[in-house]
Amino acid sequence: MNVADSEVVISILSGPGITTVSDPADADLILINTCSIRENAEQKIWSRLKALNYLKRKNSSLKIGIIGCMAERLKEQLIEKERLVDIVAGPDSYRELPLLVAEAETGHKAVNVLLSREETYADISPVRMDRNGVTSFVSIMRGCNNMCAYCVVPYVRGAERSRDSQSVESEVRELFEKGYREVTLLGQNVNSYRWNEAGIITGFPELLRKIAEINPGMRVRYSTSHPKDISDDLLHTMAAYDNICKHIHLPAQSGSTRILKLMNRKYTREWYMNRIEAIRSILPHCSISTDMITGFCTENESDHRESLSLMEWAEFDFAYMFRYSERPGTGAARKMKDDVPDEVKAARLTEMIALQNRLSARSKRKDVGKSFPVLIEGVSKRSPDYLSGRTSQNKVVVFPAPGKRKGEYVNVQIERSTSATLIGKII
Ligand code: 5AD
Ligand code: SF4
Repeated sequence: MNVADSEVVISILSGPGITTVSDPADADLILINTCSIRENAEQKIWSRLKALNYLKRKNSSLKIGIIGCMAERLKEQLIEKERLVDIVAGPDSYRELPLLVAEAETGHKAVNVLLSREETYADISPVRMDRNGVTSFVSIMRGCNNMCAYCVVPYVRGAERSRDSQSVESEVRELFEKGYREVTLLGQNVNSYRWNEAGIITGFPELLRKIAEINPGMRVRYSTSHPKDISDDLLHTMAAYDNICKHIHLPAQSGSTRILKLMNRKYTREWYMNRIEAIRSILPHCSISTDMITGFCTENESDHRESLSLMEWAEFDFAYMFRYSERPGTGAARKMKDDVPDEVKAARLTEMIALQNRLSARSKRKDVGKSFPVLIEGVSKRSPDYLSGRTSQNKVVVFPAPGKRKGEYVNVQIERSTSATLIGKII
């Protein structure tokens, strides 16, 4: 999400006399795109700001801006306490950045954190900061209306709005023409994508279909689905197109119905299991990943066991796991006590990570001996003789491939696996 936003920002700010530089010491303007989702994400930004202080002392014309969610959340603190910050721009005010930069250049603090009901940056063609020229992100909606009790996103990114489906389509077409072979459609809850063009509604399955039909050589991924509304229709659409990747990220957050209710997730453990069963039956070769939180308010040992047993049952191929971090202003912060001690949250997280490591390793071991179409994304980080790519199921594969190049598809037979990677040979 933030990479996609940074690309929009670069596009808005590009123009005569402006270039991007790779060394911050050469910059006259440094914008830090921030995330507020967990406290440690914000902590990192505070330390980054302190570290940038020395550049400011060396270059008096250097302007520093904080953009994104933390700007939205902490504008007063950023301007008052951190005299270092010249520009503060929330996620819906990027179009104002040229004006804000100009204002900062006159020596004033420049701030805009207004949230919008409409802004989707649909007409802005992002400048790709890509590392590989093969895979790219395309944002299809912004904001979120779900109000999960722990989550700050609805407050810092505002209400949900979908982007014009035509503009999504033309952006993907353009990417294909430039040589890209994979797009990931991004939204906080892609299932609620809805674009109304003169009374004709495009929902997410239709959008996905349109994007998949641009070219069979363009892989399509998406993130994130909310379990409460991932539909069979969507699963059937995925089944109908080879180029829609067979991987679903379906954040469970907890395996305990009691905790899910407190989290305001609007589904039960059984509902979540039913959705996994639907995926397994409609898309038998689909991989599934998840997000889990340990130590949410009132979580007890038995709730925790239910999270572990759900993970074991679902056999997730991959998971992002977090300990609960209370975010000011959220439903949970206002109404519930953050009553699980830090050591308990940490111990549960350690146990959960150990379990997922076993599940991830098992999932990769099962692929040994099978072969998969792989899109080559570049040279392996570990060894220059190996190329690296991903399977449709989003598993990283490395393999020797003399004469092959990034952007090509190859069939790779898996010979062995490590905890993070599949290793194979082209067949
Ligand atoms: N504490 C811990 N994890 C959180 N997430 C969101 N908010 C919090 C929080 N307050 C996690 C959820 C979400 C992922 C993006 O971040 O698991 O799916
Ligand atoms: Fe946050 Fe819930 Fe929206 Fe995801 S769906 S961004 S967790 S409020």
